[in-house]
Amino acid sequence: MGPSTPAAARARVAFLLLAVVFLLAVPWPGAAAQAGYRVVSVARAGGQLSAGLELAGDGEKAELGPDVQRLSLTARQIFTVLPPGGRLETSSRLHVRITDADHPRWEVPQDVIPREAPRNVVLGASTGASPRSRVLSAATSDLTFTLHASPFRFTVSRRSTGDVLFDTAPSLDFKDRYLELTTALPAGRASLYGLGEHTKRTFRLQRNDTFTLWNADIAASNVDLNLYGSHPFYLDVRSAAPGAAGAGAGAAHGVLLLNSNGMDIEYGGSYLTYKVIGGVLDFYFFAGPAPLDVVDQYTQLIGRPAPMPYWSFGFHQCRYGYKNLADLEGVVAGYAKARIPLEVMWTDIDYMDAFKDFTLDPVNFPAGPMRQFVDRLHRNGQKYVVILDPGISVNETYGTFVRGMQQDVFLKRNGTNYLGKVWPGYVYFPDFLNPRAAKFWAQEVALFRRTLPVDGLWIDMNEISNFVDPPPLNALDDPPYRINNSGVRRPINNKTVPASTVHYGGVREYDAHNLYGFLEARATHGALLADTGRRPFVLSRSTFVGSGRYTAHWTGDNAATWDDLRYSINTMLSFGLFGIPMVGADICGFGGDTTEELCSRWIQLGAFYPFSRDHSAIGTVRRELYLWESVARSARKALGLRYRLLPYIYTLMHEAHTTGAPMARPLFFSYPKDVNTYGVDRQFLLGRGVLVSPVLEPGATTVDAYFPGGRWFSLFDYSLAAASATGTRVTLPAPADTVNVHVAGGNILPLQRPALTTSRARQTVFHLVVALGEDGSAAGELFLDDGESPEMAGPRGQWTLVRFSCKAEPGGATVRSHVVHDSYGPSRKLVVGKVVFLGLRSPAPPRGFAVYVNGVKAGNSTGRAQGFRGSGAVGAAQVEGLSLAVSKEFELKVVMS
Ligand code: NOJ
Repeated sequence: MGPSTPAAARARVAFLLLAVVFLLAVPWPGAAAQAGYRVVSVARAGGQLSAGLELAGDGEKAELGPDVQRLSLTARQIFTVLPPGGRLETSSRLHVRITDADHPRWEVPQDVIPREAPRNVVLGASTGASPRSRVLSAATSDLTFTLHASPFRFTVSRRSTGDVLFDTAPSLDFKDRYLELTTALPAGRASLYGLGEHTKRTFRLQRNDTFTLWNADIAASNVDLNLYGSHPFYLDVRSAAPGAAGAGAGAAHGVLLLNSNGMDIEYGGSYLTYKVIGGVLDFYFFAGPAPLDVVDQYTQLIGRPAPMPYWSFGFHQCRYGYKNLADLEGVVAGYAKARIPLEVMWTDIDYMDAFKDFTLDPVNFPAGPMRQFVDRLHRNGQKYVVILDPGISVNETYGTFVRGMQQDVFLKRNGTNYLGKVWPGYVYFPDFLNPRAAKFWAQEVALFRRTLPVDGLWIDMNEISNFVDPPPLNALDDPPYRINNSGVRRPINNKTVPASTVHYGGVREYDAHNLYGFLEARATHGALLADTGRRPFVLSRSTFVGSGRYTAHWTGDNAATWDDLRYSINTMLSFGLFGIPMVGADICGFGGDTTEELCSRWIQLGAFYPFSRDHSAIGTVRRELYLWESVARSARKALGLRYRLLPYIYTLMHEAHTTGAPMARPLFFSYPKDVNTYGVDRQFLLGRGVLVSPVLEPGATTVDAYFPGGRWFSLFDYSLAAASATGTRVTLPAPADTVNVHVAGGNILPLQRPALTTSRARQTVFHLVVALGEDGSAAGELFLDDGESPEMAGPRGQWTLVRFSCKAEPGGATVRSHVVHDSYGPSRKLVVGKVVFLGLRSPAPPRGFAVYVNGVKAGNSTGRAQGFRGSGAVGAAQVEGLSLAVSKEFELKVVMS
């Protein structure tokens, strides 16, 4: 800039003023000159604000249909009554619903997302004059709702900071098959995550991204297209406002549009526009302010993630194209021989007789020998899972089909069963909105399990995938607004069942399309639970809001490329936000031929997916982990650490089930005030403090890792990798067989010994890794139960929860356990045999140390110091030979000498 003369200064002020005037005058993106609606009446009752809206002017976008004349709006704070004692909690949720005032419209069914309906308020007649703005604010809530009367718009702001979180444009459209609403966002200050399911190049949403939500059988190897599931939910974390001196920095909130219709959501950086082809505008705002609070509040509404059985955290092997039973046996033997853990063997559609569900190919997978195979797996502590597709082959000699017809459970179009085409040829699809269909499904599962007692079920193709493109029958099949299906505005009927298909109760596929995978997962979960009495394991490709209550998810058909390896982190983290924490991608890549190096790096990352499964497509090179020695080495090392971490991982499952916390989390979940973490998506956290920094490029032998403020210790050799006050970048060595995994100071991790199966690992002694923070403290917990009872931590269940805490003292440290709950009998026999302290400070390298258990010197334990160098050194101490009962409170003290 040139020298500052008074004239130049005046010119600058004039320019700035002009810019401000211009900015104020800029219309909302997509806003019409004519405002959409105006408020004509307002009523208030309890914590609810109701308003009547009337179309202002002649409306617009006539080609998309006539505007609804009168709308009704309700806004209310939702308070949660928490047992015990029925205490009224602070409201952390705000519900804003806009619908047609005169005609009922499709809404997500109550049994999909059970929720309190807004109260009906009779509004006074229009007074002619518009009421002024109204505010809904409660001292007990951090969210304030403001209704602006003419033109109508609304804002949601954070009371404690004044930050405007949602700020709608006046240009609201509300037609029968087209709803449009835009909200402003503070570009540069808002970081958004979520809105799926899409494969994204980055985890943080990028400006000018469009998110189409219409469940489709589109391979996950395609970026930016609508994929298998629909989750119109985002989390927004805000960096500090200019001049706000950091106030509110790192505060996060969540926004759900509870709507199952097809939609496009356009993110322009400074705005977000919803274009929806049906239903109502049903928004839920979650106050946060911590990211973990947001998912807690969100899963309080949509349902907590289902507990997964302990065994499902072991390693899984699958392939589309296993030829016969001998092939399966060879794979199981291959893993055993290579000493690589294998918990679950899977079989894709190959096991079926002519691709018919609930049948076995009599030649290649004959019933008797298959039964013996599964029994052998079970005797060895291993499990077996098979695939099911929703389409039931139309074939009069096929029992499942005959029973389905007798019970009349299939989807209808034009008065007859709708005929689709999938693997077996022509099929009918069970209508899972029909309670009879869930019963039918449960009977078939139970019948099949009598032949083959499978341990879990994998439900695929449930978007629904259909190999034909049904021609339109009526207006539903081709609505006036074409969502960006498959990135080319492909008709919504293509490759799925047509929108004019009719479900039980007259529900239109047009409205319920995105719910099919959810409903099938619910039916499958119920079927397994009824038949086994044990905790079900279901893996579903298609999901909707709330699917986490019933199912795990894999990211679908990725490809064996380095890009797909990288993007798998983005999808995994997104599903954590969606309340489906049990998620993973096909390790080594599904489509195309993998390479030795890619597969090796992929198992290094995939060993830390919550759901860890190797899977591949028919006709591609095989990719079982023992096939290359270098991959086997990577697998033994990475899965070895995963199996050691199983108690920690399972404790995260408990946290997910009780609070909605994702198991795999973005870094900003633990460090929301550190804006450098907002864009990190090449690394992730397991829980609060285990950081995974994988290699994601070919040829790399190092990894550039970001370490947020604090100390970070390697979980492989316990060395201190980074220590900074505010965060630092470190180039870490990453030789071919190595993945970097670190624990943050401040955490205590419960570990066990590795083994080839989870049941074997569970029989070993516990270790605690105590990673001390700069302040000399650390904390952690351990959850235990039998791993297969239907309930996790339920009131009648048997479970144990122990909290650990540690405080460093001059010359040593003391770790204490606190038994919060202990009804899981076997925990009484379990012991902690080893405690590793990381980050002990000593003025000089210690010569040795003494160990005290509950104040008594423990003579039988041995210890060794490691890594102390120079004066004021930080190092590790390993104490072994302990025998501390897990369910008895203890105090363990180490004193360095
Ligand atoms: C599509 C699924 O996404 C894939 O995982 C599976 O192997 C094939 N269907 C065959 O069943």
